Amino acid sequence: MTFAMNQMSNDLKAKGIDIVNMTLGEPDFNTPENVKAAACTALEENYTHYTPVGGSLSLREAISDKLKKENGLTFSPADILVSNGAKQSLCNVVMALIDEGDEVIIPAPYWVSYPQMVLLAGGKPVYVDTGIEQGFKMTPEQLEKAITPKTKMLILCSPSNPTGAVYSKEELKALADVVLRHEDLVVVSDEIYEHLNYVGAHASIASFEGMRERTVIINGVSKAYAMTGWRIGFLAAPKWIVSACSMLQGQYTSGPCSVSQKAAEEAWRGPQACVEDMRQAFERRRNLLVSLLREIPGLEVNVPDGAFYLFPKCSSFFGKTDGEKVIKTSTDLAMFLLERGHVAVVGGDAFGAPDYFRLSYATSEDKIKEAAKRMAGALALLK
Ligand SMILES: Cc1ncc(COP(=O)(O)O)c(C=O)c1O
Repeated sequence: MTFAMNQMSNDLKAKGIDIVNMTLGEPDFNTPENVKAAACTALEENYTHYTPVGGSLSLREAISDKLKKENGLTFSPADILVSNGAKQSLCNVVMALIDEGDEVIIPAPYWVSYPQMVLLAGGKPVYVDTGIEQGFKMTPEQLEKAITPKTKMLILCSPSNPTGAVYSKEELKALADVVLRHEDLVVVSDEIYEHLNYVGAHASIASFEGMRERTVIINGVSKAYAMTGWRIGFLAAPKWIVSACSMLQGQYTSGPCSVSQKAAEEAWRGPQACVEDMRQAFERRRNLLVSLLREIPGLEVNVPDGAFYLFPKCSSFFGKTDGEKVIKTSTDLAMFLLERGHVAVVGGDAFGAPDYFRLSYATSEDKIKEAAKRMAGALALLK
């Protein structure tokens, strides 16, 4: 759905219509210069051959150091598998651990690919609904209630796509306490938005006693270093999981692109100022977009603590019409905003949250202002 809305927006642009695209799931910044230089050097030095399936040793050492330094976690290079983006890391672990009929708990709103990966593996997604009133965060009680003898996995995403919700250390500890009561349950902790956090230091559920052996950490360079196209992500996990995922990846794709691996190594080892610069820019944009959307009657907007998405509640518009179309769903509303406001957003139906829609603020402050103005104008037509 996110790619489809992006495509529709591009099609209209190609017809000469000026669209403000708020669907994008990637930073609008360029990859830092030192990272690009490392890739050029890799090419010049003919670092263009197959690498080990799980990524080069030097890259896995850089990731191991990153996990120690930034997260206080000990994973040796042998506990790390580098893949073609965090997406492949996630798919590896779901395909490796989930069999026919296994249940996977996915808090909703969720990132669109989680349920599809589980279905692909023959598993059953079990959704736990969370709304704006609870900050889009699952409580320990909700988690406990969703666990059955068939539950194998919990997929947790903090900071979250699509809501921007960030679990605090205390909230994660309470969830970890529930997980530890169920010995077959593995947590897949998607931390790809780790550095886009506006409330403090990132916390990983793997950091609590007993959780290192029960958690698969997913992360990568896409969001923190504006490197979506380089396709480097990783999983860090207990050895038995790394070994199963490695076997799968060895058959599907082998190791990721050699040049991208050198670039990612520089991203993790090199200067980190670019990460903080981008984080601050996103925080300014978040504040701007929240304040502008809060002025639009009918939208309920919370202040997300991380990532670069806003997830306003829009169900007050359901049943309303501009005289031509009746808005019945959030996807109807997204289409209406595209056609009448020339702003592209994604309906919440795609994220398991039909009362909401998602906007990405990975775009300039001028475009954010323009988008808010156009949305206010279009939504005012609905009576
Ligand atoms: C929550 C989440 N996890 C994983 C990914 C995939 O990241 P990558 O580009 O490293 O495959 C994304 C990308 O949009 C995401 O939003």
